[in-house]
Amino acid sequence: MPPSENEKITIRTLQARKRQGGRISAVTSYDYHTTRAVSEAGIDLILVGDSMGMVLHGRENTLKVSIDDIIYHTRLVARAEPRSLVVADMPYGSYHVSCEQAVRNALRLIKEGGAEAVKVEGGRSRFGVVDALLRAEIPVLGHLGLTPQSVHSLGGFRVQGKMRDKAREIMDDARELEARGVFALVLESIPMELGKAVTQTLTIPTIGIGAGPNCDGQILVFHDLMGFTRLYMPKFVRQYADLYGMIQTALRAYIHDIREGRFPDDRESYHLKGDIDEWLK
Ligand code: KIV
Repeated sequence: MPPSENEKITIRTLQARKRQGGRISAVTSYDYHTTRAVSEAGIDLILVGDSMGMVLHGRENTLKVSIDDIIYHTRLVARAEPRSLVVADMPYGSYHVSCEQAVRNALRLIKEGGAEAVKVEGGRSRFGVVDALLRAEIPVLGHLGLTPQSVHSLGGFRVQGKMRDKAREIMDDARELEARGVFALVLESIPMELGKAVTQTLTIPTIGIGAGPNCDGQILVFHDLMGFTRLYMPKFVRQYADLYGMIQTALRAYIHDIREGRFPDDRESYHLKGDIDEWLK
């Protein structure tokens, strides 16, 4: 039976969606009111992404985001009680030391933040971590292709899987992550033909970001799709609004009205019933 409009989205909802041939919508969110809007609009999955390092903190990559940053923002998101599934990103350094470290940090995301699943970047080098998280009953969203936490070892934010060996590695890692039990897989910045092949091979959903139109779902960073920044936009971003432009227009009008003495006027002011001159005599 399809879920009703108000039914909470779970990992099972998303997996059923793939079996039924439906598509999954996903976006990042980092705060309460954005989450209310995102959930009410009908988005299936919210990622409290470490992209916050770039779009909230103004850094050039995601590497300095801490586990405490993600917990704080996941709390704000969870407080909005979205219908959407809430997935928290495991930031760089929060799972790279040991499986025990990974489980401790992921448990914090669930218990302190209120996340319902976590996302881990990487393939074969992360199989042990994925196994440990799954043994601790923590649902895991995988992430292959361009994994931004590897920006230095990849030599920049570059499309992945354009050559035969790397494409094969991504496919093999995708198969193995599915076999180990991740509930879905983000595919970032890979050729659309590879996105399609992985999607057709797996029974779990793929969620693409720069992986072409054949993935089972799509995800974008909220600030990118809303045109909230003037940052460089990768080719795969479609901007559905120009919030930055709207904010500029609104702020310029505000400044103009203040300078001209037009704000506030009667409508934005409180009124006294008595005679102020009389009162203050
Ligand atoms: O951190 C993030 O926002 C992400 C998505 C872009 C997939 O990892």
